[in-house]
Amino acid sequence: MTDNKPVRVPDIIAMKARGESVTVLTAYDATMAGIFDQAGIDILLVGDSLGMVLHGEENTLDVSMEDMIRHTRAVRRGTRRALVVADMPFLSYQASFPEAIRNAGRLLQKGGAAAVKIEGGATMTLLVERLTSIGIPVMGHLGLLPQSVHQVGGFRRQGSEKNARNKLIAEAIALEEAGAFSIVLECIPDDLAEEITRQVRVPTIGIGAGPHCDGQVLVSYDMLGMTEKTPPFVKKYAQLGKAMTEAALAFAKDVKARAKK
Ligand code: KIV
Repeated sequence: MTDNKPVRVPDIIAMKARGESVTVLTAYDATMAGIFDQAGIDILLVGDSLGMVLHGEENTLDVSMEDMIRHTRAVRRGTRRALVVADMPFLSYQASFPEAIRNAGRLLQKGGAAAVKIEGGATMTLLVERLTSIGIPVMGHLGLLPQSVHQVGGFRRQGSEKNARNKLIAEAIALEEAGAFSIVLECIPDDLAEEITRQVRVPTIGIGAGPHCDGQVLVSYDMLGMTEKTPPFVKKYAQLGKAMTEAALAFAKDVKARAKK
């Protein structure tokens, strides 16, 4: 979508019906959000990946509600048009429905998000139903679930065996039926993502799941070439890490030489 009207949840669902791809990038601050927003990206995802790319953690488990609210508010301030979706961090939605509802509500009320994303399939459908029934839009997330990194033994590709494939297809359908407005498919085989995309009416947003999804998401620091270790499926659209190193070196040289601007 390229006009200047703010993107709403129903617009995202309508894009699939029109056969239009959904563009999603992660954003964590107002400046980067403003740049992506002006480029016409449809959804800015305040991912809990911020624990890794901003805070240098090994995984996303240490990210708190306070982290998410603060970064979501920053992204919201930098955004005019894109739909802002905030990740619910680990343990903010798994312990009980009341706690999950309150935390999801805080991401909308205090963070200014328009929707939340939660990881998981069968175990999350009741929660998705509850949240959407009270007006909190939910993006689902299936396949590799970074918050379950210890359970699955690392950041590994999912859905390769027959049972796992069938389970993922059933979970995607269940999430759609529970009211999710879109579903992230992370690190699953291309043909499985294609099959899920065919079977659900809401947009699938792929990351490491091939070209047949209704949209694609990447972690912005990865695709901008700012992170050293990136998953093999990431295409780097810029080499900002290299450009930043060169800028810092040039700055240091000027300072040492006491050069005038
Ligand atoms: O946290 C995140 O950035 C995500 C995307 C990788 C989908 O969940």
